[in-house]
Amino acid sequence: MTPGPARRREVLGEAVRRLREAGVASPEHDAAELLAHVLGTSRGSLALLEVVPDDRREEYDALVARRAAREPLQHLTGTAAFRHVELLVGPGVFVPRPETELLAGWAVEQAAALVGQRPAAPVVVDLCTGSGAIARALADEVPGARVHAVELDERAHAWAARNLAGTGVELRQGDLATAFDDLAGQVDVVTCNPPYIPLEAWESVAPEARDHDPHLALFSGEDGLDAIRVLERRAAVLLRPGGVVGFEHADVQGDSAPAVFTRTGRWSEVRDNHDLAGRPRFTTARLTASVVR
Ligand SMILES: C[S@@+](CC[C@H](N)C(=O)[O-])C[C@H]1O[C@@H](n2cnc3c(N)ncnc32)[C@H](O)[C@@H]1O
Repeated sequence: MTPGPARRREVLGEAVRRLREAGVASPEHDAAELLAHVLGTSRGSLALLEVVPDDRREEYDALVARRAAREPLQHLTGTAAFRHVELLVGPGVFVPRPETELLAGWAVEQAAALVGQRPAAPVVVDLCTGSGAIARALADEVPGARVHAVELDERAHAWAARNLAGTGVELRQGDLATAFDDLAGQVDVVTCNPPYIPLEAWESVAPEARDHDPHLALFSGEDGLDAIRVLERRAAVLLRPGGVVGFEHADVQGDSAPAVFTRTGRWSEVRDNHDLAGRPRFTTARLTASVVR
């Protein structure tokens, strides 16, 4: 007798067991997300399903095996949710993280507060844009802003080009150290989620990131602050006096990342901001009017 179609609860239970054994941090969520992906439905709608059709089992089992081998969930589904948008992601680009939504939210508030305050649209620059996540969220939530983005890596830039097509964001390929000379002194808000992991922390990085996120997106010198030092100099060039910068850092950089800004003397209101778990997550600062370029 051939076995009938498997019951959803059993299929999911088996997948959760495999993912948990493999050390995946959120096995229930990921098992359900992959099943929803294979069935072309949403995770919330899975409860309505009694059985998993036989012809989808093979594909599901293969995806669960790849997730158990610690491929990022978002590489398997091909998308990552970020605030109100969905981004295309895959090999060659950093998968946007939920904690970065806070930095994007701060930038949205800063830009939105300027809309209608003066004739010109607020100007926002997203440095190290990766998939284009922060720039895309800004274009989505502050349609009155002029958003510019830059990414150094060719493959990541190609993903950003797909995600930002038709959004009005101006995307360039280049180095944050020299980007947007033509906007010097005109920018209202600079955002950046730079690489910030110290090289020596290599072994502590989760396999999903270490083996699948581009290393240019992760590591930044001995103390992890190299890109943040470059950002400090570039943001001072790009911003108008009184303009603001916000950038993400590692949770162990709650003092050292803001210190990069305070020690140059050209910033006021240097603050560190916590994520929802109470960990230091991103720094914000305002360019003083007296900066000498
Ligand atoms: C941590 S990822 C962040 C990507 C995206 N902003 C996000 O939040 O998901 C850092 C990005 O910076 C890019 N990058 C690294 N060094 C850069 C540089 N010197 N200039 C421009 N981009 C750079 C990397 O290629 C990577 O895409």
